[in-house]
Amino acid sequence: MTTTGLDLGSLVRGERVHRRVYADPAVFDLEMARIFSRAWIYVGHESQVRRAGDYYATRIGREPVVLVRSEDGRVRVLRNRCAHRGALVVADERGHAADFRCAYHGWTYRTDGSLLAVPLPQGYAAAPTADPALGLQAVARSASYRGFVFASLAADGPDLATFLGRVASSLDDMVERAPDDALEVAGGVFKHAYDGNWKLYLENLNDGVHPNAVHQSSVEAARAQDDTVVTDGAGEIAVRQMRQNGAAYGFWEKEVGLFTFPFGHSYLSDYHTDEKLVAAKRDPVFADYIAALERAKGRERARAILSVGRWNTNLYPNCSFMSQFRQLRIVHPIAVDRTEVHTFNFRMRGAPARMFHDTIRFANVVNGTGSPVLTDDLETYGRIQAGLQAQGPEWINTARQFARERPDQGGGHVSDGTSEAHIRNMFAAWVQYMTA
Ligand code: FES
Ligand SMILES: [Fe+2]
Repeated sequence: MTTTGLDLGSLVRGERVHRRVYADPAVFDLEMARIFSRAWIYVGHESQVRRAGDYYATRIGREPVVLVRSEDGRVRVLRNRCAHRGALVVADERGHAADFRCAYHGWTYRTDGSLLAVPLPQGYAAAPTADPALGLQAVARSASYRGFVFASLAADGPDLATFLGRVASSLDDMVERAPDDALEVAGGVFKHAYDGNWKLYLENLNDGVHPNAVHQSSVEAARAQDDTVVTDGAGEIAVRQMRQNGAAYGFWEKEVGLFTFPFGHSYLSDYHTDEKLVAAKRDPVFADYIAALERAKGRERARAILSVGRWNTNLYPNCSFMSQFRQLRIVHPIAVDRTEVHTFNFRMRGAPARMFHDTIRFANVVNGTGSPVLTDDLETYGRIQAGLQAQGPEWINTARQFARERPDQGGGHVSDGTSEAHIRNMFAAWVQYMTA
């Protein structure tokens, strides 16, 4: 299909991609219209809108929306635009309100989006409040999976269960690690931005070859760290994480699996050699957590839950989470060369309170703006974008382990942890959305 002179399908070949896909503002506009307006987009978690009137304002692609729990208890995703003259109605990122009042002329909306009142109603031939079109419109579709709320701006398309497919098991993993089978967003939000295309972020997260090069400085610093200075189990996770980024290539090839699924999703299996259950012997907090999990679910089930070892799961196009570490990141494309990422941390209901401290400590190492690891990646995204915006060669190479994906019993395909299969898989979805 050709649009604005672009043959979109031809920009993606088996093992190469045209640089315009990352650098052309016209492609970016089409991505917002065809991917972010069609796919299921992760919006937020039900725990962020626990009580009626709680809201959280965010975006689907470039469209401002509000996640809100209405008086009837339902969680809704509403477009954040006044039906009068179009102003954003909800300006705060989160809060609690009995109703939403537009700051411009004071049109007021109920938490289900319906119009409650307007000033000077006598000035209209028919009362605006009687017209259902004059409300904060719900997006075309929204649905939850185990507390995770997704929305689609398209009325048609696969349902959420079909979209998630087998990769829903990573969300199961995240929820089932909680003794009470429930998670809640806690603490603040880490936000970072980079001068690069949104696709670079998901590509990097499951790229098993980059850590050895990109993160070399923190690998070396962590290796130089004396184990004996670690006292409370918290520093340990940081040092362990940073050291393991330097695992030999052979380890990534043989011990780490990269799993890809329809719709562009993927996950990387955990790449840490030491077992949490072994660590528990040294870490009293983790031991308490295991005990709570065993009390709630039985010893066998607890062991099965803890034996699931996944690193990043990417839900294409806008979400990546670490089920084991209770972190979730939302990718917000801003422009072809600008992206924001928001990271949320989850508390497990029924787990010792200290487990959440470890979540935050881990976040500070991996997702925080002061992270010695994340900052390397941000620098890299900027360098990639600068290179791709230069005229130079037209194609980039995504050929590592090309055509070596094997069908996996989990319903997707499996490659070794050095493969670029997840990138090719995302581009297969990209072509589908963009040319449908
Ligand atoms: S634009 Fe919202 S009340 Fe006028
Ligand atoms: Fe990285």
